[in-house]
Amino acid sequence: MKKNGLIIAIDGPAAVGKSTMGKLIARELDFLYIDTGAIYRAITWKVLKNNINVSDENIISNLVSDTCITIEKVDCKSLNDYCHIFVDGEDITEEIRNPKIDQNVSQIARLPKIRKQLIYLQRKLAEKGNIVMEGRDIGSVILPQSDIKFYFTASEEERIKRRYKELIDKGYSIDYEEVKKQIIQRDKIDSKRKSAPLIKAKDAILIDSTEKSIEEVKDNILKIIKKYRECREKTN
Ligand code: CDP
Repeated sequence: MKKNGLIIAIDGPAAVGKSTMGKLIARELDFLYIDTGAIYRAITWKVLKNNINVSDENIISNLVSDTCITIEKVDCKSLNDYCHIFVDGEDITEEIRNPKIDQNVSQIARLPKIRKQLIYLQRKLAEKGNIVMEGRDIGSVILPQSDIKFYFTASEEERIKRRYKELIDKGYSIDYEEVKKQIIQRDKIDSKRKSAPLIKAKDAILIDSTEKSIEEVKDNILKIIKKYRECREKTN
């Protein structure tokens, strides 16, 4: 365990269940939960709001420098409201889940200058420890010193089904084929980009959630964390 508390990293492709599991684990351990995808989504929200071209790296970089992003624990009982994200003081937690953000976020997240700027914020948020941080490059780039790294996977079909249901439940009218297209395209951009692509860190534990219930996955992860803590206590 690090001096400042435990750091748990979760990486994986789109709609694999990182957020649900990350929040459940954080709640169970009373840790802070940081969804780094929400940070990229927040920037995308501001870029679209200002009608900026998603490939204009310099203008987006200036916008990032001029943006204050904060994440706050709001309601620990509710998974939906566990943490809220604010851009320049405005709560945009709901808005960043709009399919329009899904369509554009990976175009912005692939820009090296923007990724570099956001490293500092993500590391700063993790400084105090006792956190679960999830994204695409947490175990590989942002926090390679994490105590435990998980890499989540699930079949493409399962992930598309989950995201489709999530969006329909939220009241968006979107068709299945559109969700499928967006997920496939996002995964492709995220894993093929030059700067911090989505990869499984060598020392990450693979968690395949296809055909597994949320409870099963959660129990398995908590068992791994418990064992890690016990082992650390003995050796410290
Ligand atoms: O929830 P979902 O898995 O669909 O996506 P997300 O975690 O909210 O991430 C949205 C997008 O942000 C991803 O598709 C990536 O393009 C980008 N992202 C990234 O590049 N690096 C991260 N650490 C987290 C997200």
